[in-house]
Amino acid sequence: MEKLLENQVALVTGASSGIGYGVAQALANAGAAVVLNYHTHAESAKKLADEIEKAGGAALAVGADVTDRDQVESMFDACRARFGTVDIVVANSGLQRDSAFAEMTLEDWQTVLATNLTGQFLTAQSAVKEFRRRGPRPVSKALGKLICMSSVHEVIPWARRVNYAASKGGVLMFMKSLAQEVAPERIRVNSIAPGAIRTRINKDAWESKPEQDRLLQLIPYGRVGNPDDIGKAAVWLASDESDYVVGTTLFVDGGMTLYPEFADNG
Ligand code: BGC
Repeated sequence: MEKLLENQVALVTGASSGIGYGVAQALANAGAAVVLNYHTHAESAKKLADEIEKAGGAALAVGADVTDRDQVESMFDACRARFGTVDIVVANSGLQRDSAFAEMTLEDWQTVLATNLTGQFLTAQSAVKEFRRRGPRPVSKALGKLICMSSVHEVIPWARRVNYAASKGGVLMFMKSLAQEVAPERIRVNSIAPGAIRTRINKDAWESKPEQDRLLQLIPYGRVGNPDDIGKAAVWLASDESDYVVGTTLFVDGGMTLYPEFADNG
């Protein structure tokens, strides 16, 4: 059976762990050649690239700091050198630096905005330029697909994380404004907004039983998500199956955005 993303090339930023890792695996399983960007954890990105190649796929691990324009451009150069172009770009790199508002340092504010928002700007800009340079390919109806990794916190306010919530609120209008601008060229820009996904970024929230029970109160569907839940959504959003989906956020959150506190209150 033909795979959904066969003959396409995907780039995933922040693919050495967590959601990015799961998304890269899922895109590879769907037949895409995958460029795995990492910043600090070269080992795990290279290990995943090896695994994908051993399983008959194609993958390349590339180091780059997504907050640095030159490094982002070099990452796209590496992608072109190995695979000729890129069809699917997942701007996924993200981090948290939590603290109460009055104590939040300027560095914690800037670090989060730089990776979560400026990193998406630089990645998306190189992606759009590459889609235009390369022109249409028979592998997809769209000229290119960009997926921004957002969060339920693009709409759910989050005390003691104003930097993170502001960055994801920024991703919402970044994604929609860019989608409006480039849709006439058949470039599809969309976001995925994960809820609580079991990764290193939120391990304090699921590691112990009491913490996990507290977290589950926020998830009507009754389980914490896995990176593969996001990977499957990314495959669909990157494929022609979603060709008419433009400028939208796909929430993959077990119902976290349904205001579960109101189920028996209000
Ligand atoms: C955050 C996680 C959090 C989840 C749900 C994500 O965007 O990175 O730390 O568990 O949102 O609140």
